[in-house]
Amino acid sequence: MSIVAPSLLAADFLKLESECAMLNESEADWFHLDVMDGRFVPNISFGPMIIEFIRKTTSKTCDVHLMIEEPEKYAEQFKKAGADILTVHIEACRHLHRNVQQIKALGMKAGVALNPHTPVSTLTDILHDIDLVCLMSVNPGFGGQKFIPYTLDKIRQLRRMIDEKGLAVQIEIDGGVTLDNAASIMEAGAHVLVAGNTVFKSADPKGTISLLKKL
Ligand code: DX5
Ligand code: ZN
Repeated sequence: MSIVAPSLLAADFLKLESECAMLNESEADWFHLDVMDGRFVPNISFGPMIIEFIRKTTSKTCDVHLMIEEPEKYAEQFKKAGADILTVHIEACRHLHRNVQQIKALGMKAGVALNPHTPVSTLTDILHDIDLVCLMSVNPGFGGQKFIPYTLDKIRQLRRMIDEKGLAVQIEIDGGVTLDNAASIMEAGAHVLVAGNTVFKSADPKGTISLLKKL
């Protein structure tokens, strides 16, 4: 069964409280929270302050995706804000092993995200230290982009690597996930589906979450 992680980036921030309530009432498993700094990605979203407010509305897992440079400087702040999973980009971490250890020492699960051009083989020597891999299926920075089909090959390669090592690392797919491509994403070997526009721009967000859950 899939883990569905709606991305609040596509929510109506004037109605943040009711958007969170809707997710709480839905079958969504996680809240996916996209942090952008205008440096690592060409967009700025929100930071720990907003996450602290969101955290107060829910007991579901807060899955924080950092699209920022120097994430090590902010790991503690995101822990205090209530992050359960903290994901950093491999392209933003010169000392990824140290960054991962820091996240785990703070009591969070550690995720590593890969941009579309970054091969999954770069994870070989860190895979056994992490809880989650977030494969970007669009170039990070914006919601509502089109799924890059080659991601399916990357999922298959990564699934093989994880299984060969006998690990329980979760594979999360982020960007352009729709009701049409979600089944093939799951078939390729991913379990965690991030969905922004597909959920929040749907006429029936809760119903859409249920459909994703059934996959
Ligand atoms: C993109 C973000 C995604 C984004 C997904 O940089 O990391 O989480 O919100 O949005 P959709 O599902 O609309 O592509
Ligand atoms: Zn994301």
